[in-house]
Amino acid sequence: ADTNNSVAERLHSICEVLESHVSYYNWVGFYFKNGDKEELKLGPYVGTPTDHTIIPFGKGICGQVAVSNQNFVVPDVSAQDNYIACSITVKAEIVVPIFVNNKNIGQIDIDSNTADPFTEEDERFLEFVCAQVATILE
Ligand code: SME
Repeated sequence: ADTNNSVAERLHSICEVLESHVSYYNWVGFYFKNGDKEELKLGPYVGTPTDHTIIPFGKGICGQVAVSNQNFVVPDVSAQDNYIACSITVKAEIVVPIFVNNKNIGQIDIDSNTADPFTEEDERFLEFVCAQVATILE
């Protein structure tokens, strides 16, 4: 059986592979529902450290995905009212939920320093990644 530590290491490796192989993936991380609380907690990530290690449901792009259960593609973060800025270099963001037993238990969050870089191909690819992550977690 996996220890929690090895799960974290595997998730961190996924972040490293994504960040290093896709030029416009500049911050790659996981947020997970924090126990029974209506909030997300930062998990493994690669990129600039963020102050936003806890995000209440509904707040920012991540918090909205925790509630909507839908992908959220943001071509231009400056056009979003409900957005939590982590770095001034970020221009775009994509968040895709992770489902275990049909329950939204977390998400992958990717920031880009390129404007409007994310396509439906990214969505389909990241849905696949999240489905694989779900098999690690369940
Ligand atoms: N921008 C996110 C916060 C997380 S950082 O991108 C790492 C948001 O608005 O939810």
